Amino acid sequence: MEYKITVKDEMDTIELAQNFESEKFPNMIICLNGELGSGKTVFAKGFASALGVNETITSPTFSIIKEYDGELPLYHMDVYRLDGNTNGVNIEDYFTKDGVVIIEWADTIKDILPKERLDIKFKVVDENKRILVIIPYGKQYEDLCEAVL
Ligand SMILES: Nc1ncnc2c1ncn2[C@@H]1O[C@H](COP(=O)(O)OP(=O)(O)OP(=O)(O)O)[C@@H](O)[C@H]1O
Ligand SMILES: [Mg+2]
Repeated sequence: MEYKITVKDEMDTIELAQNFESEKFPNMIICLNGELGSGKTVFAKGFASALGVNETITSPTFSIIKEYDGELPLYHMDVYRLDGNTNGVNIEDYFTKDGVVIIEWADTIKDILPKERLDIKFKVVDENKRILVIIPYGKQYEDLCEAVL
């Protein structure tokens, strides 16, 4: 199953993230891919605000993982710089912490990603338009997509 969703602007991406947030569950894993500036952090910010995170979400490019308090803990990762090597950070620990995990550049670590997860690929069409290719892996994520999309 694969969904193709066109978002016309940043607000559309935020709304989509909010819709996914409304169906959240512990250990939810959302893997974001797509070129620089395609909207991955915008999605993470939209999700975080809906989750009730008060702190400002900043790109965790240099820290790899940032944790935020919301209705569930949010673990926001950017693994762009990892180069397949997790530099001593035990990323897998976060997959079982009962929070929501959002990973930018997730393909970088695809060997250690859980089998059950949501993949979202951002494709830039023009300045404000993006095509999102959304693929659920596992029943829980298929149900999630049925509810949201
Ligand atoms: N439909 C859209 N969805 C998301 N962002 C959009 C959209 N249209 C325009 N933008 C703009 O594109 C930029 C996306 O930046 P963002 O930081 O989210 O990208 P990113 O994919 O996280 O990049 P990086 O790989 O550098 O982390 C923002 O400046 C945002 O305003
Ligand atoms: Mg980003």
